[in-house]
Amino acid sequence: MSERATAVAHSNIALIKYWGKRDEGIALPATSSVSLTLDAYSTRTTVEWGRDTDTAELDGAPLAGEAGARVTRFLDLVRSLAGRSDGASVISRNTVPTAAGLASSASGFAALAAAASSAAGLDLAPRELSILARKGSGSAARSIFGDLAVWFAGDDDASSFAEPVTDPGLDLAMVVAVVDAGVKTISSRAAMRLTAETSPYFPAWVDASRTDFTDMLAAIAASDFTRVGELTESNAMRMHASMLGATPPVSYWQPDSVRVLHLVRDLRSTGIECYATMDAGPNVKILCQRRRMESVRDAVTAAGITRVTTSLPGPGVAVSRDD
Ligand code: DP6
Repeated sequence: MSERATAVAHSNIALIKYWGKRDEGIALPATSSVSLTLDAYSTRTTVEWGRDTDTAELDGAPLAGEAGARVTRFLDLVRSLAGRSDGASVISRNTVPTAAGLASSASGFAALAAAASSAAGLDLAPRELSILARKGSGSAARSIFGDLAVWFAGDDDASSFAEPVTDPGLDLAMVVAVVDAGVKTISSRAAMRLTAETSPYFPAWVDASRTDFTDMLAAIAASDFTRVGELTESNAMRMHASMLGATPPVSYWQPDSVRVLHLVRDLRSTGIECYATMDAGPNVKILCQRRRMESVRDAVTAAGITRVTTSLPGPGVAVSRDD
């Protein structure tokens, strides 16, 4: 029997952000977060065990240096869960520009967790898979699930996992203004560490985000799109404010990011309801309802942003064993 499996996981964008760890060793976040999994961005990963050493390739190029070491550290976790010591080959393909703030580490580690564990003969429940994916990259914990997901900060390893949140008919969609698809200047991991260690605004971010999280779950349950959007935008701005307070300051924004943020505000004043969020990169993700998706996309394109993509809610991770 071959020990090979392939998994496809979709990226997610946080509506309430994860920014800062409470415990780096076991990847416990400072706060709980809420996300929307997107259908437009995914990673397909095939893992085969039974090798002498680990090898990893992404989009046809070998993963070297820190990226390769991160995969090996993750495979170590799977080895210890499965009680094995062999190496694995990892072949991954992204539909997301890697490290461009489109959360490719989320889909990447969710797919790797599912493929590596399944190929190793482990049959992990979704919650266990979410805990495993979290240790590869925090946001990956949420990409195990489709549509809306909540990731509870938890108190320890076993209580920090994501689970699905029922969407009572919000009919969400996302328009991504790709301002720059290049590699980011500072990784989200390094930037959140710097923020937590040096920004006097970090404790305020944690406090505010806890309240935003509770309010967001209430807004989703009430199917109140306006409130969901307002919270999405203000939570993202608060996260970026906490980074600006770091030493040295962290800013992912580019002139076109600000232009799109202003456009979103202008669209709202003309009755096209939409809200902006940004992650560890210059791209602006615009949350709207499905019926507004084309209008928002056209407005962003008309403003001169050449790469604009649209997304509907995407599925949770899917895995198949190649027996
Ligand atoms: C801004 O999940 O990439 O996208 O756990 O260190 O791998 P690590 O960080 P990562 O951080 C994502 C940060 C964010 C917000 C979010 O997705 O919640």
